[in-house]
Amino acid sequence: MDDKDADSSMTGAEGKVCPLPAPALRAPGPPLLHVLYFAYAADAKSLPRQITLAQRLRAAKVSLSFRGDTMDHEARWNARYRAAGDDYLFGIEPNHFLARRAHLFQDGHTALSVADGEGRNSVWLAEQGLKVTAVEISPIAVAKARKLAAGRGVEVNFAVVDLLAPDWPPAAAENAFDWVVAIFIQFANASERPRQFAAMKQATRPGGRILLQGYTPRQLEYKTGGPPFVENLYTPEILRAAFPDWTFEELVEYEDEIAEGSGHRGRSALIGMVARKAQA
Ligand SMILES: C[S@@+](CC[C@H](N)C(=O)[O-])C[C@H]1O[C@@H](n2cnc3c(N)ncnc32)[C@H](O)[C@@H]1O
Repeated sequence: MDDKDADSSMTGAEGKVCPLPAPALRAPGPPLLHVLYFAYAADAKSLPRQITLAQRLRAAKVSLSFRGDTMDHEARWNARYRAAGDDYLFGIEPNHFLARRAHLFQDGHTALSVADGEGRNSVWLAEQGLKVTAVEISPIAVAKARKLAAGRGVEVNFAVVDLLAPDWPPAAAENAFDWVVAIFIQFANASERPRQFAAMKQATRPGGRILLQGYTPRQLEYKTGGPPFVENLYTPEILRAAFPDWTFEELVEYEDEIAEGSGHRGRSALIGMVARKAQA
């Protein structure tokens, strides 16, 4: 599936694309009950069962709404990175919002790059002299990231990690990092986001900072990258509410032409944040 971060078709665990005839499954007439239907759980095998279930619900006058993504993050992202072969889906250059802030990063700082993908950002941070840990759910992406780091002659401590796992971060990573860097981590929907942000906050040391780059809802018009679900996207209000006791050093909403591999390309509606955790 193209991340444009996902689209209105589905890729199953076997990589088959299954268009879901979503509008055809909507219930006619007034609904008796409303069900949130998890369209992205379907793959080639389970799609017929899902359609039958949806048709039965429709016959029972149950209205359905569709939202993405119960298919697990690891399988979906592995499929994407595998499909890219030797190419780097988001390129090998650092994200621009990050790279333009090189002056903020000092030799010897520690950084955690979350959902690091194929390593373009963690490798760049290591090249700035930081001690970098990178966590990412896809082992295929991490293998590519290791190759990138070796080729550029830097060390990064890579780990395959589910950022949403309830036991992450481990005690050793709590309050540990000067920087937590989170570039395009909008795989998380609105109900997953609190867990995701909580893990990032826990990993930041008192007085440390999070640098975050994402898309705003306006990106749904551009379709040049990012998930197609408005609930996954950020507004300044969402970010301010998510970090109530943090100091915002920057919170900018802007548009730019970006060229990050084949995954993120073209005019984009972006948001960038640098926020500092209170001293203990
Ligand atoms: C749009 S990509 C961005 C990758 C990288 N940050 C970059 O900018 O090149 C989103 C990344 O989130 C990773 N991801 C998805 N779910 C995750 C999870 N639960 N825990 C950790 N990483 C996850 C994906 O595998 C993918 O590499």
